[in-house]
Amino acid sequence: SIQLVTTVAGLKAESVRLLNAKQGTSQALVPTMGALHEGHATLARTAVENNDVVVASIFVNPLQFGDAVDLDRYPRTLDADLALLEEQGVHLAFAPSVEEVYPGGEPLVRVTSGRLGEKWEGASRPGHFDGALTVVAKLLHYGMPAAGLTAGSAAGAAAGGLPAYRAYFGQKDAQQLALVRQMVADLNFPVEIVGVPTVRAEDGLALSSRNRFLSDEERDAALVLSRALRLLEERANAHEPLDLDSALALVESQPLVSLDYFDVVDPRTLEPLAENCRETPFRGEGLALIAAKVGPVRLIDNMPLNS
Ligand code: PAJ
Repeated sequence: SIQLVTTVAGLKAESVRLLNAKQGTSQALVPTMGALHEGHATLARTAVENNDVVVASIFVNPLQFGDAVDLDRYPRTLDADLALLEEQGVHLAFAPSVEEVYPGGEPLVRVTSGRLGEKWEGASRPGHFDGALTVVAKLLHYGMPAAGLTAGSAAGAAAGGLPAYRAYFGQKDAQQLALVRQMVADLNFPVEIVGVPTVRAEDGLALSSRNRFLSDEERDAALVLSRALRLLEERANAHEPLDLDSALALVESQPLVSLDYFDVVDPRTLEPLAENCRETPFRGEGLALIAAKVGPVRLIDNMPLNS
């Protein structure tokens, strides 16, 4: 059954113990902020299928919240989260306190997300991605297998003494995923980043811990986001021009939805693709990004095109 640890020392000790007990050659980290749903469950399940030891972290990171009200309102559902993670076969849940993660208060030195972190979500949430990347950097260190300790074992020897290390992130937060990949490449983190496709409700709405704040009417209205993305996906699959205007009209036809941004970008740089993707048959790789307020709730969604 799943084991809950709340300190970094406890996490290190238990993950080493598990890795040795299983003669494991791989360890995985699934970072979350809790309030878990089937999207998180899919990340956890994918990690369990591909790794010997799986750690899921549950930490509501103050550094990535713009205002204190948002932070306070973030749902905290630890017991249900542990049950969900256990059901997926996760071995360790790491749920540290704010003091455990930031013992000296807010860190003086942080990761900056640069230009990539200033556009799209970053434009309406200043500092958000710096805060997210800073905690992801710390979490990636916490979840790293303690190398060498399996070196004496047969499995350790087979892996060259170094267990594989993977971390799982959802495509749902496409900009976060792109930034984590960029950080890991730019700063040489010894971890393989695995992106997991967005999990949706049957009607297309991307699962999000914020969906619980939508009224029935707002939830219905929110469907235009995934429908607009579907429209572009169908065009891309048919190698037709993307016709952003019709997709945009669909979103704007819904009075409860107030659009923030909607565009097709390069999946790595997140720079908008040339205007001609709207007029000529679309064959390149793209990523459609959308963000809107639905009633009081800000939602984001995206769709990889021709990926
Ligand atoms: P959180 O919003 O809890 O999301 C945790 C992970 O679950 C992220 O990688 C996110 O992309 C993924 N996820 C959320 N909804 C999903 C869905 N419908 N389908 C697939 N994956 C989904 O993202 C964060 O937490 C934080 O920023 C964190 C990375 C933990 C740093 O604090």
